[in-house]
Amino acid sequence: DYVEEINGFRVLETEIKQTLNLDRVIITPGDSDVQEWVKYDLGRRAVQSLHDELTSHETVALTGGTTMAAVAEMMQPTSSAIRPLFVPARGGLGERMENQANTIAAEMAKRINGDYRMLYVPDPLSEETYHSIIREPGVKEVLHMIKQADVVMHGIGDALTMANRRKASKDVLEELNTGRAVSEAFGYYFDQSGQVVHKVRTVGIQLEDLSTIKTVIAVAGGKSKAKAIDSYLRQGKSNVLITDEAAAKALIKGF
Ligand code: BG6
Repeated sequence: DYVEEINGFRVLETEIKQTLNLDRVIITPGDSDVQEWVKYDLGRRAVQSLHDELTSHETVALTGGTTMAAVAEMMQPTSSAIRPLFVPARGGLGERMENQANTIAAEMAKRINGDYRMLYVPDPLSEETYHSIIREPGVKEVLHMIKQADVVMHGIGDALTMANRRKASKDVLEELNTGRAVSEAFGYYFDQSGQVVHKVRTVGIQLEDLSTIKTVIAVAGGKSKAKAIDSYLRQGKSNVLITDEAAAKALIKGF
């Protein structure tokens, strides 16, 4: 029954917390691969965690993706004095407009009366543009805010799914295959043991920056993502995981 299910999740949460060395794990019922509402449930729990974390005027950096878009959709105006500043974690990574971090940051701010700043950078960035764009005053200012973020919230994807969604070049696909990439987050691709195989060149948060950020929340569910979640969390840069039952069970029982 319901109570049993909740208690069952507690055990599972503790188990995953210990295995993946996390501070907090939250599991919602179902499988977001199969039922769309599960993704919104993940979103609801992610919003709750954000409320628990934030004090008055903090900065939240976030990635794009359909999961983060669902988090935004679950946000509601609150009477609290919390007025977060939402910023994209990194520059464009080849997502459709509605799934871009810029769009999601603006949407979140609108829904909970927060503020937002956008990063206007071309996508993808050439080496040359990269070096000149980080010197642009407007970009520099937002980059500074991003690096000072109090909370980072991000999705995790399956490596090849993400590479195809981003229409990665043949060379990149080959690099991912040779390096046996399993997961993707923030535009970084990782192998089974959490080593970086490839990274999309753009401005904003670099993986190293995450270690100085107080709370890094990963939101990812669906049985098909279990292997990716495991791979990404192996490099230990996120301390909170919000996932669903199907991914959680696969994380423990194997995939
Ligand atoms: C991307 C993020 O936009 O979305 C990644 O940059 C993340 O960090 C990916 O892995 C996940 O997408 P989705 O649609 O599976 O939530």
